[in-house]
Amino acid sequence: KLLHKELSGDQVLVVSNREPYIHSQEGETIRVQRPASGLVTAVEPVMKACSGTWIAHGSGSADRQTVDAHDRVGVPPEKPAYTLRRIWLSREEESGYYYGFANEGLWPLCHIAHVRPVFRSNDWQQYVAINRRFADAVVREAKTDDPVVLVQDYHLALLPGYIRAALPKATVITFWHIPWPNPESFGICPWREEVLQGMLGSTILGFHTPFHCKNFIETVDRYLETRIEHESSTISHNGKLTMVESYPISIQWPSPWQESQASVEECAREIRSSLGIGPDCLVGIGVDRLDYTKGILERFWAVERMLELHPELVGRFTFIQIAAPTRTALDDYQNFDAQVRALAARINKRFATASWQPLVLRIEHHEPEEVNRYYRAADVCMVTSLHDGMNLVAKEYVAARDDERGALVLSQFTGAAHELHEALLVNPYHIEQTAEALHEALVMPEYEQRERMRSMRALVRDFNVYRWAGRMLLDAARIRQREKLAARIG
Ligand code: F6P
Repeated sequence: KLLHKELSGDQVLVVSNREPYIHSQEGETIRVQRPASGLVTAVEPVMKACSGTWIAHGSGSADRQTVDAHDRVGVPPEKPAYTLRRIWLSREEESGYYYGFANEGLWPLCHIAHVRPVFRSNDWQQYVAINRRFADAVVREAKTDDPVVLVQDYHLALLPGYIRAALPKATVITFWHIPWPNPESFGICPWREEVLQGMLGSTILGFHTPFHCKNFIETVDRYLETRIEHESSTISHNGKLTMVESYPISIQWPSPWQESQASVEECAREIRSSLGIGPDCLVGIGVDRLDYTKGILERFWAVERMLELHPELVGRFTFIQIAAPTRTALDDYQNFDAQVRALAARINKRFATASWQPLVLRIEHHEPEEVNRYYRAADVCMVTSLHDGMNLVAKEYVAARDDERGALVLSQFTGAAHELHEALLVNPYHIEQTAEALHEALVMPEYEQRERMRSMRALVRDFNVYRWAGRMLLDAARIRQREKLAARIG
């Protein structure tokens, strides 16, 4: 309701690299998939609430020929609420803009996950060109000269600047879904000034935590000539003001499966029987994209250490890792895939019995409804990212447990750790500590699970994704009013 009220009469455009739906041809039929993406999880309910147009790279929709007809579609397919407008990229463009500068440059640069960022001039040129292409699409889609444009993530750092130049009255709200590093770390980017200037085309620039805002402001202070007002958290650059603020992202509440989902008991039974394990076997779950920032190796080492320290759980605990393949064209991701498979195989070989193995590794796409069944069946969820902007898996697990059971082991290096204080917080690099936290989760008394889960659920309920979007849009509405008034009174 708030979104409708704040945006009444205003056109809303969302721009992201990732598309919320993937269409692909299977024989005569077109298959529709929902990609594994925290960004999509968060932004989709907002778009459903306020309609508008979502502009995205048709990345997963592999066979362009067959889906060309889908370059402008109403989605969700079952009940269209907004328009999805796709931008198609050639292999070369995708390689430079998406795989290259965004995912071999900015991604490791911002996560500081000990993977060396790679910066190539060719990638940068594609990144610039594709950001311009998105800007052209925004201008084409704009029905007025002052739309509200929601720019998502590090693939589009230059877009706010281009929109500002073409549509000076637009309100540009940029949200950076990944961490922002300290000025020294960011400073190795050869095009640091251009990236910062592009981002400062935003009216509002959002990060998950105050810490990332502080890092960003310090980075701007180090590398650009600007005026910074720390009190109001604004940066004035080339006569334009940008407000830098933290907006912790969240998920839909109540969960979209609330009405239709199977009971916790049914989910627990179904998952255990599909794995051929007994009803008393404890189950852990991890859900990630197969990404080196997610701490999946560290998680497996912790499971192994836990079984060494607590051999009574050998044969009585199974950890299921769901991992959605991602960015598979990149060497770092291929190597990581091989390492994860090899480690799982080694640990299974070491502990497996004829009827049981400690790790079940599922490297494939899972639809969100299916993931929800695993959450409901699991005694513990492990989120051990080495660094993560927020991590919505932690919040999804909590939302799935309306029975107030289960425990969450959560990396202290996630944005979620700043909010979910009742999780068992760990340093994922500290294997011993993570192993003990896993054990503590598995033997946690029922009343303690309830207390912790109840408190975490209240947080996710109260600070849900509508609150995230609502706060940004309220701030934007205030700025718009102020600007309109200033224009009227000269
Ligand atoms: O939030 C990080 C992010 O890169 C999103 O921009 C993206 O949608 C998601 O992770 C999944 O990554 P990809 O789109 O590269 O598969």
